[in-house]
Amino acid sequence: MVVGTIKTLIIGADGMLGFDLCKVFPDAVKLTHKDIDITDKEQVMESIQKINPDLVINSAAYTDVEGCEDHQELAFKVNGYGPGYIAEACKEIGATLIHFSTDYVFDGSKKEYIESDTPADPINVYGRSKLLGEQKIVENLDDYRIIRISWLFGIHGKNFVETMLRLSGEMSQVKVVNDQFGKPTYTVDLANKILEISELETGIYHVTNEGICSWYEFASAIISNAVPCTSEEFLRKARRPKYSVLVNTKTSSMRHWKEALKDYLKERNE
Ligand SMILES: NC(=O)c1ccc[n+]([C@@H]2O[C@H](COP(=O)([O-])OP(=O)(O)OC[C@H]3O[C@@H](n4cnc5c(N)ncnc54)[C@H](OP(=O)(O)O)[C@@H]3O)[C@@H](O)[C@H]2O)c1
Repeated sequence: MVVGTIKTLIIGADGMLGFDLCKVFPDAVKLTHKDIDITDKEQVMESIQKINPDLVINSAAYTDVEGCEDHQELAFKVNGYGPGYIAEACKEIGATLIHFSTDYVFDGSKKEYIESDTPADPINVYGRSKLLGEQKIVENLDDYRIIRISWLFGIHGKNFVETMLRLSGEMSQVKVVNDQFGKPTYTVDLANKILEISELETGIYHVTNEGICSWYEFASAIISNAVPCTSEEFLRKARRPKYSVLVNTKTSSMRHWKEALKDYLKERNE
């Protein structure tokens, strides 16, 4: 596919990732939550049929991991059934769907996960709802790319880098968990990768920046007053997997997260 020759629709256009996707696909039709509610099947079918795109990129989701524990029904509607409706609409018009899923579909009992590993027993509601979304897409559509990503940071949304910078100014020491491991990923790098993935075969992809770290190691690259702690010292409503390292065996790898972080910090200071 070549940008400009295909009609692209971006759903969730003003989210953190959606914002950078819109830069990569400037001619795309862009829908925000105000324009479409993906939990409304009729609206999804009608909008997608009317726009009639060749490629639909869905970055809409309910991403508040703690909030999902309190609002399970909403989580399953937005992250589970919504992507299923989008897939059904894509099938109707013969469009390709690119959808984003998460490392949290895995339970974290293995150190690393490749694309063909079968997710079982996600340990929080967000992970379970996102897994349902994957399953609904696979059930309803043949031409899809489900891209599992992790630890996203981008200039246009709430993210770990911004939280660390804020906390660092507010307190003398910032406690950060040092026993959960993953791969931070910059929305700009991910957005730039989407066109390449749209040209690959249907299936599941793992796309992250390279480099594995703990949240504490990630924090230490951002601020100077991070101190390590354990998950037990930092209890939250939603459990997090110990290891949620996504291994990419299907596409070319992206740069190290430390390089990407440098660009992010430059971007936010401009
Ligand atoms: N952030 C991460 O660390 C991370 C990690 C792994 C995977 N992912 C996945 O990556 C994708 C993009 O995440 P992100 O961080 O960019 O998310 P985000 O910033 O929270 O953006 C999500 C967008 O979806 C919209 N939305 C929510 N409910 C909707 C509904 N019912 N109908 C239509 N739009 C709705 C939101 O609009 P409102 O805000 O106006 O409601 C928001 O604009 C998601 O699929 C997410 O699950 C994210």
